[in-house]
Formats: sequence, structure tokens, C-alpha cells
Amino acid sequence: MADIVEVRGLVKRFGDLVAVDRVEFMIADGETFGLLGPNGAGKTTTISMISCLLEPTEGEIVVAGHSINKEPTAVKSSLGVVPQEIALYPTLSAAENLAFWGRMYGLSGTRLKKAVDDALELAGLADRSRERIEKYSGGMKRRINIAAGILHRPKVLLMDEPTVGIDPQSRNHILETVKDLNASGMTVLYTSHYMEEVEYLCDRIAIMDHGKIIAMGTLNELRDVVGGMDVVAVTVSEVSDRIVAAANAIDGVEGVNQADGKMEVLTPSSGSILGRLVTTLESEGAHVTSVTVTEPNLESVFLHLTGKSLRD
Ligand SMILES: Nc1ncnc2c1ncn2[C@@H]1O[C@H](COP(=O)(O)OP(=O)(O)O)[C@@H](O)[C@H]1O
Ligand SMILES: [Mg+2]
Repeated sequence: MADIVEVRGLVKRFGDLVAVDRVEFMIADGETFGLLGPNGAGKTTTISMISCLLEPTEGEIVVAGHSINKEPTAVKSSLGVVPQEIALYPTLSAAENLAFWGRMYGLSGTRLKKAVDDALELAGLADRSRERIEKYSGGMKRRINIAAGILHRPKVLLMDEPTVGIDPQSRNHILETVKDLNASGMTVLYTSHYMEEVEYLCDRIAIMDHGKIIAMGTLNELRDVVGGMDVVAVTVSEVSDRIVAAANAIDGVEGVNQADGKMEVLTPSSGSILGRLVTTLESEGAHVTSVTVTEPNLESVFLHLTGKSLRD
């Protein structure tokens, strides 16, 4: 698949601060790509440079074959941008606000009307489109932000932490909207400091900290950073060499550790071995009292790489 976003050697300095430090990534056409990092990691600064709002100190960005330096207009028309806050006119209705943004993208007449109707439908707010924006909840305004970003059917949608500080219902709606947009062929760059969101949405993820990408890959590739294995902790009535050997002999078991009455079974896929593991241990005369599966997640990866938690 061709890359629709290419970022090479991207640097942004604010005085002495290096907010973005030699960032490189490629996003394939049709992908949902996540930029995961804590506050201050450099996510917004990166997105602002891709969307031509901020000039890079160094580096190259190409969107849909157009360089941001040479063809910023072509870049802008390929992009939809959903910042955390957009200017909405509080005394105008949602439909009127969207029509305003649509005209900014050069839409008019029946094309504008259809674009606004489609966007309202997608935001799940078609039935409230005549209400003034000032009556909307924070989550509804965020959904209108997204609607505004996709009015012109961009090839690539940039979303900057679109679910921060909103109610769970709007949050779920936004996550499903991202899935739908991606399924309709839109490439999405999604930034967040919530690992569950990027785990749920993204084909590939770059983990960012202090302006640098510290790891990048699919969720499974990133889990590999911390071993790529499930750990099944089994508590048994007694642990003997014979029982450990029996567990080790199961197809799909990569290794077994034993420690004070417990066994830890390493496996690439706990789901396919759990049943056999328990019956094998029981048939060897060991009584299994508990089985717990733990799986490395992006939090463990971040912790492993930086020594700190994503939420700090
Ligand atoms: N306009 C600016 N002037 C000076 N420093 C800035 C500016 N914008 C962002 N920064 C700093 O750059 C770093 C990265 O910020 P940002 O890109 O907003 O991070 P994130 O979006 O990941 O929270 C932070 O240390 C922030 O304080
Ligand atoms: Mg930000």
C-alpha cells in the first residue's frame, strides 16, 4: 500500500525547547495510525506542522504526494483537521456552523447542503441540527468539530485528542465514528494519551515521549517489546518437577517458571492452551485453584521504555 503521509526528520524548536525531535513515520493509505504519548510529548505540535499551521524547524512532510513546503494548498485540501477546540458560533445552529465551515472549504449550493446533512448524520446530531450550539454539551460540540473536519471528504483526517474531557456516550460515539470513517476509506491520524483508544482504533501506533518516537508498530509488535507473550499464572496444590515437565510438554507452551506454589506459563496464545493446561495438570494429580492470564499492554510498553506511567 502506498504511503499517504510521509514525515521525515521532523524537528520543532521553541527557543531552547525541542518539542519535536527528529520524528519520522509513514502512514499507509487507509490506515488508522495512532500517536500515543503523555501531555507535552509533542503530539499537537506534530499535527500542527502536518496541517501547515506551524512551520517545521527542520524536516519534510508529504501528504498525498504533495510537499507542505511546495504545495501547501494541495496538502490542506487533502486534509481534514479536528483540533481539540474549533471556533463555533454559539448563537448559530449546528447546521449553520457547519455551512460556514463548508463555505471555507469552497463548497456551495446543493453540494454544501448535502455535505452538511451527511456530516450531521455522521455526528449523530441530525435531529438537533437546528439548535443553537450554545445549548450543546461539550461532547456534542466535539462531535460537531469532527463533522466540520470531514465536510469536504478529506483523504486524511487528523484528530487531536478528540475525546478528552467528555461524557462516555459522546466518547463511544466518537470512537465508532472513527471506525466508520476509516472503513469508508479515510486514512486517520489519531493522537491520544489514552492507550485503550489507540489499542482499539489503530492499525499501527507510534509511542511518543519528550518529542521523540520511542517505539512504533502494530499493537502486537509493540507488545513484543515486553516479550510478546501471555503470562498464565497458575496456582496449584503442589508444584513438582513432573508437573512442570507435563505443562512444558503441551503444544504452544514456550516455557514454565515455578515459584512458591505457583507456576507461570509463557505462551504466545493463552486462549489455545488454557483448557489443555488445566486438564493436564489435574490428570497429573495437581489440583488447580486459580488461573490468571495477564497480557502486556501499551501501558506496560511505555513503562518498560520510560520507567514512568502514561498517566503521570
Ligand atoms: N507555541 C509554543 N511555544 C513554546 N512551547 C510550546 C509551544 N507549543 C508547545 N510547546 C511546548 O512543546 C512541548 C510539546 O507540546 P505539545 O505538542 O502541545 O504536546 P502534546 O500535544 O503531546 O501534549 C511542550 O513542552 C509544550 O509546552
Ligand atoms: Mg496536545
